[in-house]
Amino acid sequence: MSATASNGTRIAEMARQAGARLAGRETPFLRDCWYVAGFAGDFGETLKPRTILGLPLVLYRDGEGCPVALSNRCVHRSFPLSKGRREGDTIVCGYHGLRYGQDGRCLQIPGQKNAPNGIGVKSYALREQGPLVWIWMGDEPPADAPPLEAWVGDAGWPASNEYFHLEANYLALHENLLDLTHLSFLHAGTFGTPDYALAPYSVELDEARGRFAVLRTVSPTRLPPVWAKPTGLEGRDAARIARSEFVGPSAHVVNVRFEGLDAPVEDRPDMQIKTAHLATPETAETTHYFIHHARNFAQEDARITEFMHEQLCAAFREDVEGLALVEEMVAKSPPDERYEISLASDRAGVAMRRWLLKQVEGART
Ligand code: FES
Ligand SMILES: [Fe+2]
Repeated sequence: MSATASNGTRIAEMARQAGARLAGRETPFLRDCWYVAGFAGDFGETLKPRTILGLPLVLYRDGEGCPVALSNRCVHRSFPLSKGRREGDTIVCGYHGLRYGQDGRCLQIPGQKNAPNGIGVKSYALREQGPLVWIWMGDEPPADAPPLEAWVGDAGWPASNEYFHLEANYLALHENLLDLTHLSFLHAGTFGTPDYALAPYSVELDEARGRFAVLRTVSPTRLPPVWAKPTGLEGRDAARIARSEFVGPSAHVVNVRFEGLDAPVEDRPDMQIKTAHLATPETAETTHYFIHHARNFAQEDARITEFMHEQLCAAFREDVEGLALVEEMVAKSPPDERYEISLASDRAGVAMRRWLLKQVEGART
């Protein structure tokens, strides 16, 4: 074996060992966590099937307007309840007519006088907050609220929502969001500028709280159209100050501040955008990717909401397509060749995955 080949073998082995200490595609999902089950509008009259953490659920809204999430598998012969019908607040299975209440209890069995106690499907705790409905996939929901930030749903932060079905593992999305170096490459045509990858950055690793952030200030810079037009900073020297933070397995929040450098510091308006990237694992290879994007300037201008939504979603689609290519490449590669080499710029993502593996292992013991 040549010196180069043996060096390559050693590096591959080290990369495999390092990867084994990180959460990855094979790591079970953390169930004791609030995940976004859907936008408020996903819960309605109709029975909507949705798989979350590998479990098939049916979602709807009862007559009081409360969202409901039940296991989608009828306990009789496993027919999907989402293919049954609503009758008032109950669901009637489309195969042999077992009737279930909003709490999942079987209330009626056709041809039998009584439904025996204890028969039913699992129901899941939900919390509706602003535009989002959160679900607790663990056993006992905690008293505290999901990790929703105060600006979500606030009238001072006009917003738009988007959903992508991501054909990739949710951790790939979290790593992508903690890695700002890809903006200059994957997003070269949308919101990346060439100077972005070269700008200095810092990371904040808070193991105790499970918070991992990347901070980057690009200044002076010229903003790409998605920010330049709505902020009025087109053709002007500007600062772009970004904080991108993993706040839990289900959520990542990006905050970006923009400043026009030609104005005195005290005259610069407070212009910020905030984006909640909400990752809900569907399976090990697919993710429900919900986005809530808001700004605190030009609040009255609906055209700006539309413009930013279009432009941003073009960029987020690049992530969705890029991560699907990654997933496909991993699937096509032999298992012993799936090791990955992490770079200095992956520090926050690596720390997050190490933390997450510890959480999952801790939850198992
Ligand atoms: S499968 Fe649902 S009632 Fe038989
Ligand atoms: Fe991206």
